[in-house]
Amino acid sequence: MELANLDWNSLGFGYLDTDYNVRCYYKDGAWGPLEVTDKKTLDVHMAATCLHYGQECFEGMKAFRGKDGRIRIFRLLAGAERMQTSCHGILMPVMPVELFKEAVKLCVKKNERFIPPYESEASLYIRPLMIGTSSQVGVKPAKEYTFVVFVMPVGPYFKEGMVPTPMVIMRGYDRAAPLGTGKFKVGGNYAASLMSGELAHKAGYSAAIYLDAKEKKYIDECGPANFFGIRDNTYITPKSESILPSITNRSLQALAEKMGLKVECRPVPEDELATFEEAAACGTAAVISPISRIDDPVRGVSYTYTTDGTVGPWCRKLYDELCAIRKGEVPDPFGWNEIIE
Ligand code: PLP
Ligand code: COI
Repeated sequence: MELANLDWNSLGFGYLDTDYNVRCYYKDGAWGPLEVTDKKTLDVHMAATCLHYGQECFEGMKAFRGKDGRIRIFRLLAGAERMQTSCHGILMPVMPVELFKEAVKLCVKKNERFIPPYESEASLYIRPLMIGTSSQVGVKPAKEYTFVVFVMPVGPYFKEGMVPTPMVIMRGYDRAAPLGTGKFKVGGNYAASLMSGELAHKAGYSAAIYLDAKEKKYIDECGPANFFGIRDNTYITPKSESILPSITNRSLQALAEKMGLKVECRPVPEDELATFEEAAACGTAAVISPISRIDDPVRGVSYTYTTDGTVGPWCRKLYDELCAIRKGEVPDPFGWNEIIE
């Protein structure tokens, strides 16, 4: 990949080759050493559990070049811990936090030339993943696993960037069952979201919004992101057993509290959408993606937050503060950044 061909400011969110990826293999009950490679493919047994029974989980983080020229990885420890939870959830061996952190830092360092410049809006997206690789045709966990981490420079996930977009409640689809795997970052959840996501996109929406699968009454999440609404100086976000516990959402809750907002994490009934002054999706890829309108076509209702593309004041304030911390423009009061020396 020639850097000369990269226009940092027009990057979207998609796969791009970088120089190296880092791998680690689990065999005979133990993790081996980290290996650096420029190979982009994996040689996997046709009966591997990742191919048949979905033994796959992944993470998503971002690295930034700071104002001071230093490289910061945002919430590396939280990513390491959530990957352990996901692994545990689908009977994969957990990777020790220190080994995970070392692998990610090594991968970022090896691909340093792909970290977008401080002045750009882009970042380096980090994608660690783990798969079950040994053959197992009975429904059982594998005995061997492969961990990989690769990186790619990215721009905004929703191509509009920090511009409000419409989203749609997909009543005909569930992403995850109440006691299922929705709270883990496993590939199967994303397979379950593909059809509804595609239908939403084709109908002109940036994402599908899922309701809780049991009662179809409460907001779960927004495609690949959590949901939050703002009303009366309060940051309100769904508490649900079937959503991914978003690290961005947790960070925004802390920032909101610091800014003097009240924070409520509790079931959010769909009807409450009518009362919010601002609404947005949040996640590593999505950052804060404001919502202009939410349609519920089955019930024939719409909830409108903005019609002229204006970003609400709290979304803007939270976004600016989050970005400033990630790029080292302001102090990092919660110790979220891992600086790579
Ligand atoms: N929900 C889903 C389904 C996601 O895929 C993501 C993305 O990671 C999120 C929420 C946001 O989580 P985070 O802020 O940890 O990236
Ligand atoms: C992320 O925000 O890191 C995600 O994983 C979302 C999506 C690209 C799957």
